[in-house]
Amino acid sequence: MVVVSRVYDRVADLYDDDWSGLYAMARMHCINQIASQLASLDGPLDTVDFGIGTGNALSELQQRVPLGDCTGFDISKGMLTQAAKKLNGNVKLIHDDAARADRYLNEESLDLALCHFLLSFVNAHHALDMAHSLLRPGGMLSLATSTQESLSEIHNIHYPRVSRLVGVQRSLRQASTPLNHRQCMELLEIHGFEIVDEHLQRQSVCFESFDDVRCWALDSGWAASFLDGPLGIGKIWVRPAFALAELLFHPFYPINATNEISIVLARKPGPIDPP
Ligand SMILES: C[S@@+](CC[C@H](N)C(=O)[O-])C[C@H]1O[C@@H](n2cnc3c(N)ncnc32)[C@H](O)[C@@H]1O
Repeated sequence: MVVVSRVYDRVADLYDDDWSGLYAMARMHCINQIASQLASLDGPLDTVDFGIGTGNALSELQQRVPLGDCTGFDISKGMLTQAAKKLNGNVKLIHDDAARADRYLNEESLDLALCHFLLSFVNAHHALDMAHSLLRPGGMLSLATSTQESLSEIHNIHYPRVSRLVGVQRSLRQASTPLNHRQCMELLEIHGFEIVDEHLQRQSVCFESFDDVRCWALDSGWAASFLDGPLGIGKIWVRPAFALAELLFHPFYPINATNEISIVLARKPGPIDPP
């Protein structure tokens, strides 16, 4: 976790460059899903963002739906500093592990919980149980996560040996990254949520050079959980690992692949639901 917070501290002012617009596109879907369900939610919505990052989701959501008390957690001070600039003090920002959100928030005190691109860093079962207990009956959880199938052409078809060498699959399995969109929805159902809306964002991406790989992996933070993975690459090996990758991949650009993000709006069943 220390490695993850350091990665995000270092890239906090670059994060919003958002290589290939992957986060922005996913966020747009999440916010549309929430806004379209507004009629079934009583506003203003008391909201938490687990892993708030630079605050984009809450700041965009404020333009679309009436928000009540809002809280954002993040382990990176750098990311929270960026979020504070956007959110003008109307969101309580907490520098702590989102897994401990229940120490700050009461049970059944929230209408909306955002969990965007956090599952790879936390124990998914704990996070979803906690979100469920913090939400009021009828409250919504907005989940966005990359899946293990994202960019799978690179590690399954094009460069399986290199991927095995640096432990990509092992790292993905060890993190709570869902296998695919279907497994993501099953995970939510196992934890007592009902699916309200779902969308699988599949987007072609092209790495034209190693600079693109660096922007994707580090600046946009997509490889942060991997750097904290089983090989502990982040601690001492990040520079040699990137130099090796630059060398190994050098002849192969452009590299085309499909990024896959599972986007789901789920609801904690309410007391007025039919039996
Ligand atoms: C990929 S970014 C996503 C940020 C934001 N949710 C978004 O959609 O743009 C992941 C964020 O989660 C934060 N993070 C990672 N592990 C965390 C944890 N255990 N508790 C709270 N925040 C965490 C990172 O510092 C980073 O800001």
